[in-house]
Amino acid sequence: CGIVGYIGKRDAAPLLLEGLQRLEYRGYDSAGVVISGKSGGLKTVKAKGRVRELESRVPKRFSGTTGIAHTRWATHGAPSDDNAHPHLDAAGQVAIVHNGIIDNAAELRAKLVADGVEFTSETDSEVLAHLIGRSAAETLEARVQEALSRVEGTYGIAVLHADFQDRIVVARNGSPVVLGIGENEMFVASDVAALVRHTRQVVTLDDGEMATLKAGEYRTYTTEGSRTAASPTTIEWEAESYDMDGHDTYMHKEICEQADAVDRVLRGRIDDRFATVHLGGLGIDAREARAVRRVKILGCGSAYHAGQIGAQLIEELARIPADAEPASEFRYRNAVVDPDTLYIAVSQSGETYDTLAAVQELKRKGARVLGVVNVVGSAIARETDGGVYVHAGPEVCVVSTKCFTNTAVAFALLALHLGRVRDLSVADGKRIIAGLRRLPEQIAEILRGEEEIEKLAGAYANARSMMFVGRVRGYPVAREASLKLKEVSYVHAEAYPASELKHGPLALIEPEVPSVAIVPDDELLEKNRATLEEIKARSGRILAVGHQPQDVADHTIVVPRNEPELDPILLGIPLQLLAYHAALALGRDIDKPRNLAKSVTVE
Ligand code: G6P
Repeated sequence: CGIVGYIGKRDAAPLLLEGLQRLEYRGYDSAGVVISGKSGGLKTVKAKGRVRELESRVPKRFSGTTGIAHTRWATHGAPSDDNAHPHLDAAGQVAIVHNGIIDNAAELRAKLVADGVEFTSETDSEVLAHLIGRSAAETLEARVQEALSRVEGTYGIAVLHADFQDRIVVARNGSPVVLGIGENEMFVASDVAALVRHTRQVVTLDDGEMATLKAGEYRTYTTEGSRTAASPTTIEWEAESYDMDGHDTYMHKEICEQADAVDRVLRGRIDDRFATVHLGGLGIDAREARAVRRVKILGCGSAYHAGQIGAQLIEELARIPADAEPASEFRYRNAVVDPDTLYIAVSQSGETYDTLAAVQELKRKGARVLGVVNVVGSAIARETDGGVYVHAGPEVCVVSTKCFTNTAVAFALLALHLGRVRDLSVADGKRIIAGLRRLPEQIAEILRGEEEIEKLAGAYANARSMMFVGRVRGYPVAREASLKLKEVSYVHAEAYPASELKHGPLALIEPEVPSVAIVPDDELLEKNRATLEEIKARSGRILAVGHQPQDVADHTIVVPRNEPELDPILLGIPLQLLAYHAALALGRDIDKPRNLAKSVTVE
């Protein structure tokens, strides 16, 4: 979900609505805004649906220079006008917007109901508004603190109060809150995306931290009330990087940006002399790197798939046993935490709660955890002991494309580094470096084939279901391509190791269920060809992606050859375009697929 707030001299509503548009990728099933009006009271508008729905409901006279707003991704209670934030207390004096989940909401709600409080929504968040409203403490800050002391769970909140019109009080525990420091005006948001147009000076709150924003000043303190030092830092990303740049969707823009993005992740890191790379933020010296016995990579969604590619790169180049696991599973299975294992958390946003929780659990058990993260200064970046930034630039479309690719490249750098302090030869180091340098141009070449892929997408978009298969290096590529297609086009797809097809899923193959096969020219080419034959023999249509045309396939997308270890980075790119054009052909809402959100900051 997204939060945005403003206090200053300008009219708040247009600023808040624009901020919500920028945050829509965080959730978009309902939205709302509250302003403290000149007349004293609070004025609220809420709407089920997108921010533009809310915008159409905001009356002409909705003026006031202080306000907070929210865009929701439903957890408790279906999307509806009532369940949209802000939530008010019974007297209509307090308004809150909340990200996160209050775990003991049911219990608190029952107590409040027993005391005669009437609830207007089914959300866990409304409890907070009532608790603040019923507090008799003197200041708004103390009332918020008293309420927070009674809740268990995660939150990023912003609070307005009709009796304290000169301020917004915000608090963070597990859900991001960033203050934007302007001149005689202050902003707050759950994400810098909503701030960059107004200020690049930001303060990121820590868990357990609160802040009071007034037009000309801010102060930060803990939920217990002791002052904290918070000096602003400057956001790296330019406001322009959030523009659509002439593309119709962010997804298309972000796919097309990949050559430049990969160039960025490589820049300044390659050391030709020693055939290695410098990763300044890693914080592991050669001796420590040699002592690593295992690598465990954790992430969710596309980040997990990029981690699978990463695990294979680390095994191949550094010869360290490595595997990837969904962070969301790892954190719940009481895993054995081993002191000789290097743990790596992967996340575009650096905020995904499941991944963050896995990091915190690992740290509590004394493990060393690195981050492979896109958003600088994000929660996972801060919680980890060091890591590699993937420098993809802001990614706005809910489905990940350029960040996935850059993450895979960041893993190639890490694997090369680990390899070269262990047993990877200078010659192999040079070979991989040369391969890495070829990537941007090869990506550009793949993207030049977009028209062809568009035609193919038309032919496959109406499939009842699709099967994606690959072997070893091709398997994570198949998984990511299948996820991409599902997320953005809603066409059902399954990914299987090509070798496993004959052990079950072959039963599904028929003309209406085409297969996409990843068939690079590596040592497994002949095995993959056998799989193509198996599919063909069951009259399945086949789209192959590889380095040369495959006779058995109905169509082949040929991609440029790199080094075998790096090929997976390229093989997936045409399939991003395939998913994109399939979704376009089906008229889907490409940047904001139904039911999803980009940063899932809840469990
Ligand atoms: C959500 C998004 C996915 C994304 C995953 C992990 O589920 O819809 O596209 O891959 O979160 O996000 P992260 O920011 O941790 O990479």
